Amino acid sequence: MRPPRGVIERYRDLLPVGEKTPIVSLGEGGTPLLLAPRLSERVGARVLLKVEGANPTGSFKDRGMTVAISRALEDGARAVVCASTGNTAASAAAYAARAGLACSVVVPEGGMALGKMAQALVHGAKVLQVRGSFDEALALVRELGERDPVTIVNSVNPDRIAGQMTAAFEVADALGDAPDLHCLPVGNAGNITAAWRGYRLYREAGRAGHLPRLFGFQANGAAPLVTGQPVAQPRTVAGAIRIGRPASWKGAIAAASESGGGIQAVDDGEIMAAYRFLAAEEGVFCEPASAVPVAGLLRLGAPPGSTVVCVLTGHGLKDPDTALSQIGSPVSVEADLDQVRAELGLSGDDD
Ligand code: F0G
Repeated sequence: MRPPRGVIERYRDLLPVGEKTPIVSLGEGGTPLLLAPRLSERVGARVLLKVEGANPTGSFKDRGMTVAISRALEDGARAVVCASTGNTAASAAAYAARAGLACSVVVPEGGMALGKMAQALVHGAKVLQVRGSFDEALALVRELGERDPVTIVNSVNPDRIAGQMTAAFEVADALGDAPDLHCLPVGNAGNITAAWRGYRLYREAGRAGHLPRLFGFQANGAAPLVTGQPVAQPRTVAGAIRIGRPASWKGAIAAASESGGGIQAVDDGEIMAAYRFLAAEEGVFCEPASAVPVAGLLRLGAPPGSTVVCVLTGHGLKDPDTALSQIGSPVSVEADLDQVRAELGLSGDDD
């Protein structure tokens, strides 16, 4: 059987791997770029969804993790560590398991969605919940990286950023060029940094003709890049981006300004409206953070006739608690045909 074809195999020439790098892949990348007809109609532009929930662990993090874990293995690492709001933890745990490396994840207590917690634990990671924020967890992990023999696999590791460029490559390959606008949620700001680097590299390599404008979106209660000030206690329904001091702050600002885009904030109500719209009108279930760029697009609009890509960063099943608490619960009936028909509104004249 052929090994799965992951992003390293497909974009090897643009990634920091060599002949001797042992490739640790779960077949990540190659995610759908799906036309969103109803969203396009509402926005007045051609809107496409890059469905990153289709990656092996259900988020875009796998693109960077395949590179980071492969490189860690090549360098003789025995253990990896990360701070996380959940998806990085799930991805690190899976790729470390595949590589035979020990993995520890440091997460804010009570801040990690159920599905992500299950993933990290099932893959055998040591999960430490700290009584503090993601930002405090990351500060602790950075200290560990300095004093102990562990490799950090957060996006402060350049191999993570390198791998995450592959989402931009895939979009340009699918469209034949970069889109006009590329919209994504921003938390620790590694992904927007990677997207901008990826599009620029692709153009330099002659594989895309132009550059997109990058629009990053944060949640109102966690919008340090919009206010210009770190947020000590970030709050939002979008737990994945509940971050007050993004590590790639400068990269995010550079991506937005150099591309002629911007960074803006939306409120939790707009996020949940976009979340429901995507699920109910487009058939795509993403996690709340992933609905953030769609909320932003619905607020800002787009130039008529332009091509817009929204990156849906993680799968909806990551966070079943938010889905159920926000949308409602099922109806219970006896195992009785009349009751079932009555509940379904089918009890008519033929009775
Ligand atoms: N969307 C999802 C679903 C995420 O999990 C994250 C980040 C982002 C967007 C933002 O990406 O940090 O590169 O700006 N999640 C990290 C984690 C922080 O620990 O899983 P970013």
